[in-house]
Amino acid sequence: MKIASTIDEIRECVRSARRDGKRLGLVPTMGALHAGHGALIENAVRECGYVIVSIFVNPTQFGPNEDFAQYPRPFEQDAAYCQPRGVDAIFAPSAEQMYPRCQQTWVEVEKLTDGLCGAARPGHFRGVTTVCAKLFNIVMPDVAYFGQKDAQQVVVIRRMVDDLNFPLMIRVCPIVREPDGLAMSSRNCYLSPEQRQRAVCLHQALESCRQTFDQGCRHANELIELMRGIIERAGGQIEYVSIVDAETLEPVETIDRRVLVALAVFIGSTRLIDNCLLDLHLPEKCV
Ligand code: PAJ
Repeated sequence: MKIASTIDEIRECVRSARRDGKRLGLVPTMGALHAGHGALIENAVRECGYVIVSIFVNPTQFGPNEDFAQYPRPFEQDAAYCQPRGVDAIFAPSAEQMYPRCQQTWVEVEKLTDGLCGAARPGHFRGVTTVCAKLFNIVMPDVAYFGQKDAQQVVVIRRMVDDLNFPLMIRVCPIVREPDGLAMSSRNCYLSPEQRQRAVCLHQALESCRQTFDQGCRHANELIELMRGIIERAGGQIEYVSIVDAETLEPVETIDRRVLVALAVFIGSTRLIDNCLLDLHLPEKCV
């Protein structure tokens, strides 16, 4: 497994994979890899002849009062996680490599970034789309892998790829959870044991929402109130509990189409997100 820290090095890997006629898969991450990332890697390795995992804690997607400095960076562990899983190369650039000068060019997806995490984290998605556009241009993958865990990110990236004609496919993998239902996240390590127990309330709220929906409730407000109650009783501080159109991300009142149920909740000072899709025709378990 090659470890590349410069753009020239990773481009050399890409050139040689292309010479061998290989299909190229990219898994963009910020590291502190866990089984959620593992699922993306597994799919990439199954579907592509050459797999690159990028590990870059992207400064431009963090707000000034967010956890950029604190974000875990266990690089040796991450490399040891990738190696036996069949990853061909890790691209782990420095911030200077990715942003050598003061960046003056930004990629911004409008409207889809106005609500949910975009409302609470101004500039976050501009940082995400800009770094993904850079990674796509550096690696030029055939397929890029993303997790449904970050549901708004998926919608925004798909739109960017569509609007800017990036010649690649986006593959989305279901949410990987701990045995009690907590969605895996690099930020779960911030939780104390007591907070870790309470953190399961996000998943519990989504499960109750799905059950009530399955029993026939189509009123978004009722479902939102139900979820808020469950989260508040567990001591979670709600940033948002929203039910939105799965494609436009506009809030819906009556569930008469495919919707995304999305939550952002603080447990102590740790911000957690989770979501599920509700479909009128194809009921499915929370992924
Ligand atoms: P990061 O949070 O490291 O996540 C990398 C990828 O792993 C994302 O596509 C995310 O949705 C997916 N992922 C994380 N936890 C998951 C889980 N429990 N189940 C399934 N997939 C999961 O998302 C980012 O990094 C950054 O914004 C990035 C796209 C790399 C741009 O900097």
